[in-house]
Amino acid sequence: MTKKTSGPEAPNLLKPKGRERWATRMGVVLAMAANAIGIGNFLRFPVQCAQNGGGAFMIPYFIAFLLIGIPLMWIEWGIGRFGGKYGHGTTPGMFHYLWNHPLAKYVGAIGIFLPFGILIYYNYIVSWTLAYSAFSLTGKYFTVPSHGEMVNFLAAYQGKTQNIYFQDTTTACIFLFITIVLLTWVLSRGVVKGIEALSTWGVPVTFAIGALLVWRVLTLGTPDPAYPERNILNGLGFMWNPNFAALKNSKVWLAATGQIFFTLSVGFGCIQTYASYLSEKDDVVVSGLATVSTNEFSEVLIGGFIAIPVTVAYFGLVETQQIAQNGAFDLGFCAMPLIFQRLAGGQILGTLWFFLLFIAGLLSSIALAQPVMAFLQDEFKLNRKHAAFAVGGLCLFLSVPVVVFLKHGFLDEMDFWLGTLGVVLFAVIEIILFMWVFGARNAWKEIRKGADMKVPRFFFFTMRYVTPVYLIVLLGFWFSQDGIQVLLMKGVAAQHYPYVWFARFLMTALLVALLLLVHMAWQRKHRIQHRIPA
Ligand code: TRP
Repeated sequence: MTKKTSGPEAPNLLKPKGRERWATRMGVVLAMAANAIGIGNFLRFPVQCAQNGGGAFMIPYFIAFLLIGIPLMWIEWGIGRFGGKYGHGTTPGMFHYLWNHPLAKYVGAIGIFLPFGILIYYNYIVSWTLAYSAFSLTGKYFTVPSHGEMVNFLAAYQGKTQNIYFQDTTTACIFLFITIVLLTWVLSRGVVKGIEALSTWGVPVTFAIGALLVWRVLTLGTPDPAYPERNILNGLGFMWNPNFAALKNSKVWLAATGQIFFTLSVGFGCIQTYASYLSEKDDVVVSGLATVSTNEFSEVLIGGFIAIPVTVAYFGLVETQQIAQNGAFDLGFCAMPLIFQRLAGGQILGTLWFFLLFIAGLLSSIALAQPVMAFLQDEFKLNRKHAAFAVGGLCLFLSVPVVVFLKHGFLDEMDFWLGTLGVVLFAVIEIILFMWVFGARNAWKEIRKGADMKVPRFFFFTMRYVTPVYLIVLLGFWFSQDGIQVLLMKGVAAQHYPYVWFARFLMTALLVALLLLVHMAWQRKHRIQHRIPA
């Protein structure tokens, strides 16, 4: 704002000025795919699938993909490109143009709150994958004798207990610090030189490592002849044999929909930010489809063929069932390391497996951080480096309670409100704003602008009625089934109460801070527009 200009050439600060644009179309698709492909594809998906009916899970999963995943993906690309045209990379500005109401921008604050809140703990998990990649290389866990001990190894790493492997969280903090430094560095390089460049390199690398691991798993045969039933065919059967009876359980349908949200990164505000770096005439229809296809390929055909089948081949059905019940972390960080101990070339394969998770995870962390980056740059005109340092520093600071209070369920509490309930709520809000307030016809026109493919009419009807109704029902279900339980801290031991309350306090404080920042940003714009000195 130091440059003094006057006359008709004076820059209108409400118009985009010097916003970045993706360099190539391939780059956009890879960046969006890198946004979506993450730990969810390789750990969360196999666990959800194995727990919820195996191959039969693919039915509700595919239905949710068609009725929620694809529509929301197009809607978010549409909203994002639309907002970018006005110089806004985050939902406060986007909603402001969709809904002419003073509240719109505040509602949009949720689209920065969710990703930033999630970043704080997701990034910590990403740092574990980097640590385990290093532990594979150095052979640190190769002397851990049993599954039970491997669980203790992880617990000590996380600071939940102490043992001969780790006495405190120093190691965990070092890897977290490295991850945050890398994150900050990529963010500071910007959309093209940072995000697009890393994605163009990272996505093919994840696919290459994934393909190598799938090949290794499929050629495994029967690792231990003493247990002929522990073989890879039974592993694939456990993962994929359909149990249609499971479909009668509503939990399976909720799990499938939750997985679609999580894996496609829809409902968070992040797709909109990436889409805001498109130019007005760029296609969103084919690119959006290419993104979801790339994600599904890596999820179903790579994620679905590694962790669970190989665990069955080594531990048998009964134990794998138990591991899957314990969740994605047990599978990824306890069962898999034990397998690498026994596999020929396990040290290298282990390093690669965790490195695959790390690259995919880091690129997702970057996507989670970009909305707040864009907010600071677009609405407060912070330069990129300063914004990156602010985001990295804040992430470091806010990670402290996540690390220290992990054993008290801090992470789980945040994940429920932000990652499970928050995203569905936000998806409902944006779809109503876009399809009903902005108007279905305008929205449809917006999505199809510059499209290289005709969108089937089926989706017009779906986006207007089916997706929102489906989501509202889901939200009601979730809130009444799980929300009330979590709210009242059912099943939480009394000694954890203060920490759960602290997590809630922190989330509320973050939301309030963002609402205030949105308020300040709009006042600032108002002053600039009317040339009122600060
Ligand atoms: N999709 C990511 C995964 O599969 C996780 C994720 C959820 C995410 N929401 C996001 C990543 C928003 C980036 C932005 O692991």
